[in-house]
Amino acid sequence: MSSNGSHPDIERVLFPSDAIEARVNELAECIAARYAAHTPLTLLPVLSGSFVFAADLIRRLPNKLKIALIQTSAYPGRSITAVAPRVVHELAGEITDRHVLIVDDILDSGQTMSLVRNLVEAERPASVQSAVLLAKRGKASQQLRPDYVGFEIDDLFVVGYGLDYDDHYRNLPFIGVLKPELMR
Ligand code: IMP
Ligand code: MG
Repeated sequence: MSSNGSHPDIERVLFPSDAIEARVNELAECIAARYAAHTPLTLLPVLSGSFVFAADLIRRLPNKLKIALIQTSAYPGRSITAVAPRVVHELAGEITDRHVLIVDDILDSGQTMSLVRNLVEAERPASVQSAVLLAKRGKASQQLRPDYVGFEIDDLFVVGYGLDYDDHYRNLPFIGVLKPELMR
């Protein structure tokens, strides 16, 4: 497996690891600036998919921050079309009166973001924003559009850099499209 993309199960690489790194740096700069005057800050990674993105992002943020966690599931097992997302591990961490940044790997229908946002808002945070590494073009309503988006992509099922198919491929350092014969 090379960091820029060759892997026998991957048909096409969309984002090699150096492109991801450069974009995460840019997002971190925007987020660091926004929250310089908005404290206290809590980052809320939505597990499992966002753990790689969140780990890279927080190490580029100089801000004082806390981490809260929640785990959801929208594509259980071998599904490549979303089911209604459900909470697998409930929201844990400090939210009330804090500025909360929800961090997810990818925005597809937006149902996961909407579910998590509602749970966060019920805890009376000082503010809520969201950051995703990827957003599928034209799928979620404009109202659910995250404040920070790494890359817009077509409506494809992608893996790598935390994103999985049947819980595999999260460890790939790049993001790509699986060979279709493997998705069944
Ligand atoms: P949504 O609720 O339809 O927006 O789906 C978002 C969630 O589904 C994300 O948090 C991901 O974990 C997962 N997901 C959506 N699209 C993909 C994909 O292309 N590959 C892997 N996981 C995905
Ligand atoms: Mg997810």
